[in-house]
Amino acid sequence: MPQDGYELEWSGEEMRAVVDRVMRRVAEHIDTLPQQPASNSEEGARVARELAEKLPENGQPLDDVLNTVFDEAAPISYNTAGPGYLAYIPGGGVPASAVASLIADAVNRYVGVWLAAPGFVQLEVNVVRWFCEIIGYPASAGGILTTGGSLANFTAVVTARRERMPENFLRGTVYTSDQTHHSVVKAAMLAGLPERNVRAVPSNDRYQVRLEDMAQRMQRDRAEGLEPFMVVGNAGTTNTGAVDDLEGLADLAVQEGVWLHIDAAYGGFFMLTERGRRVLRGIERADSVTLDPHKGLFLPYGNGSLLLRDPQALRRAHSTFSDYMPPMQDDWDLVDFCQLSPELSRGFRGLRAWLPIKLHGIAAFRRSLDEKLDLTEWAAGELRAIPGMQILAEPQLSLVVFRLAPPDRGEDELNDLNRRLLEGINRRKNVYLTATTLEDRFALRICVLSFRTHRDRMEQCIADIRHAVAEVTAAQ
Ligand SMILES: Cc1ncc(COP(=O)(O)O)c(C=O)c1O
Repeated sequence: MPQDGYELEWSGEEMRAVVDRVMRRVAEHIDTLPQQPASNSEEGARVARELAEKLPENGQPLDDVLNTVFDEAAPISYNTAGPGYLAYIPGGGVPASAVASLIADAVNRYVGVWLAAPGFVQLEVNVVRWFCEIIGYPASAGGILTTGGSLANFTAVVTARRERMPENFLRGTVYTSDQTHHSVVKAAMLAGLPERNVRAVPSNDRYQVRLEDMAQRMQRDRAEGLEPFMVVGNAGTTNTGAVDDLEGLADLAVQEGVWLHIDAAYGGFFMLTERGRRVLRGIERADSVTLDPHKGLFLPYGNGSLLLRDPQALRRAHSTFSDYMPPMQDDWDLVDFCQLSPELSRGFRGLRAWLPIKLHGIAAFRRSLDEKLDLTEWAAGELRAIPGMQILAEPQLSLVVFRLAPPDRGEDELNDLNRRLLEGINRRKNVYLTATTLEDRFALRICVLSFRTHRDRMEQCIADIRHAVAEVTAAQ
């Protein structure tokens, strides 16, 4: 036992002993992921109340603490790291990234300013450059790693506002589609723009923004004395996986002289695949792009990124100076992250992407993303073969939206039928699906984006859907 006053200072040997014991639990958890229920939160309120606790004055044995984590808290959850998680936008959490977190947190160097850890900062800069390369940006592009897509969208709005409407921005308007992720409206609000200045332009029957409507709306707004300054396009919506006409949006942005931001939080990493590059053509023309490694690169939660054609815009929007700070670098190659984002002290999140990419090579991620595209296409084909099944949004990437629509039923009846269908599928706990509403139609979604999802689980998913269809139709 370490002596009093030094308990927090584990030696290397002590830490190894703890990590070995922790690893036993982690390994067991990882190996049983496929057998764990796809969702299990019905008892959430009870368990949460039981887990409420007082500030402990004294320490507890490691095993007791691990039991709380692995036996009591972890099982009451969606199995977001498992192969059956086909809900919302999955990710998965590649284990190599967890290893990187251990290293980053144990080493605990300061990466907010270049001078404090130039080597680590460079590794993170490498990651940003790789991401820029993936989306087809030139070598002069740059950006930052964020905690996720919401913070990346927020930083994009703040940067665009600063570049285009420096001081008086209350007449500035932002153009999104009716399918854009709600984090963009939130970003605009946080950036101080009136919520009424954010336009949700209607989308077409493939849920892609209608460019003519957007152009007309800008003209109307200008005529009323407002100042359009930013367009947000979608490269994979959360709702249906739709990808806007990115070339068309880029042309419109040039014509109107506005900042073009693409929210590619979900879809962006499909640029690694040939099919993805076809669908996402034009993304490289955007002024900024949100790309979420905790989605399309399968990293654990807490990993997002914002990339910019002109990274100096980030610096112009975020840099400040204080006497107590170390000197900042003038050479653009030597990056002070605190000059590019709202954060000063921050974790070394770059290692969480750097280590998996170095260990596996980007080809492993490309193969897995290609597999997700194949699985989604296959699932859509299987769904079409189920009598009465209607595909409401064909896959553009790895997301398909569908509903059961037997003839001669009213819309309310169909909505009710599909609610029960979703319950019937999820009750089996092999997969977990979520729903959305498209033009008042309750619809089910399958989003394939976990690196652990393979053909066997998709076959199980289709089998469960068929069983649930038989149940709900028999119950009529
Ligand atoms: C298209 C899109 N944009 C933004 C976000 C927000 O990202 P985050 O949850 O990482 O903040 C999401 C989340 O699912 C998303 O799908």
